[in-house]
Amino acid sequence: MNMQDSPELQATLSTGEVKEQLALSEVITALSFALDLTEDAVPGHAVRSCLVGMRIGRQLGLQENQLHDLYYALLLKDIGCSSNAARMCQILGADDREAKRRVKTVDWTRISVDGLKLAWVNSLPEAGALQKVFRVVELGLGRERNNAEVIGLRCERGANIVRRIGLSEQCASAIYSLDEHWNGKGYPDHLRGEAIPLLARILGLAQHLDVFATDLSRERALVTMVERSGSWFDPELVRVAASLYRSGNLWTGCGTPEERDLVMEMEPGQLAILGTDQVDQVCEAFADVVDAKSPFTYHHSVGVTEAALGIAHQFGLNAERRQLIYRAALLHDLGKLRVSNAILDKPGKLDDEEWKVVREHPLLSQQILARIPSFAPIATIAGRHHEKLDGTGYPFGLNASQLSLDDRIVAMADIYGALSENRPYRAGLPPERILSIIGADIPHKLDHEVFEALKRFMLSQHSTPQS
Ligand SMILES: [Fe+2]
Ligand SMILES: [Fe+2]
Repeated sequence: MNMQDSPELQATLSTGEVKEQLALSEVITALSFALDLTEDAVPGHAVRSCLVGMRIGRQLGLQENQLHDLYYALLLKDIGCSSNAARMCQILGADDREAKRRVKTVDWTRISVDGLKLAWVNSLPEAGALQKVFRVVELGLGRERNNAEVIGLRCERGANIVRRIGLSEQCASAIYSLDEHWNGKGYPDHLRGEAIPLLARILGLAQHLDVFATDLSRERALVTMVERSGSWFDPELVRVAASLYRSGNLWTGCGTPEERDLVMEMEPGQLAILGTDQVDQVCEAFADVVDAKSPFTYHHSVGVTEAALGIAHQFGLNAERRQLIYRAALLHDLGKLRVSNAILDKPGKLDDEEWKVVREHPLLSQQILARIPSFAPIATIAGRHHEKLDGTGYPFGLNASQLSLDDRIVAMADIYGALSENRPYRAGLPPERILSIIGADIPHKLDHEVFEALKRFMLSQHSTPQS
């Protein structure tokens, strides 16, 4: 994202009035729940993988700095995942989240009965048998190419995002090589044995243990781990995990309400503290994760943020309010990571079931953000971005007396952003059309003054010479 040229953002960040100190572990463990949504994992997957992976790392005797890299790599291992969701959905012709969850329990690197079953279940769910047979054969023939493409996308993007947050190259390379296998049949580079970064090997094993333990059982997780020792997994790590299991320490705290607290307490070395700019960087990175989910929303969070700051500027709001609006706008659609691309990219009308899933996303955004106590005001605004003044919005059906100016600004910016972007069923709309559509909802559904401020912002955008 490049918002450095925005005068509103410059004004917000240059005041230096907003001072804060926030633990990186608090922010990342909270936002990792958004990454679990993308993968259709049982909530807490990233923090549980972190608990298990850190125990393996400690047992191996890793240095403190390696453990620090491992800690954040485990929490953020799925940060590139949203970027291949649309492609996965396109390849399978079906729900990307469901497929992503199932793919972790099947050995997809070779043609097998399980692999064919996986393709059969996940491809073209609405289609007839013959059409499915063709798709499964097609998937089988294109297996190498498809695996390389979807995994490559995720690896590359995941590594780049953690670099941008300011985490180390070791952390980035662990995420990049997460899907490599000990026998050289993994992706994206078919690395073999010790050529695979050690931290990446731990990530792969910790991920496997949690997915199997939560989807099937802890016993299945262990049995399959041993079965894949030397093929998927480093035999030495398998030995360490098995010994942790025998001593009763492998899964301590996993699946309990305290699992996130335990992870926050186990950050190695000195507690990493974020200043204001770094908190913004993390928010920007997660906005990118949301935007990467669909080609139709590749600019959505960023565009909404630009508009929201532009409107806030018209109201002359102070730096603290602009900071709040900035972050709420960036993160308002975090919960959309739970919506399958089969819905997000659908060219036709949504059915009732699909619409129900869409309507849940603001609440999910709110719940994820509320895990960070100092983000409570951000969580509130994010949860209300689809509310309307007359009570017809969702998910709460709030009315004018309950919606703040900040809520109204982000809601207006969201509508402006959505109308100006391409959608599967229509192209992005020109400014006059956007104004007439929003104008029809003034003043009963949307705020009149915020609309006037939006118009001034739009005018300023169009009168600014392009460089
Ligand atoms: Fe939304
Ligand atoms: Fe949105």
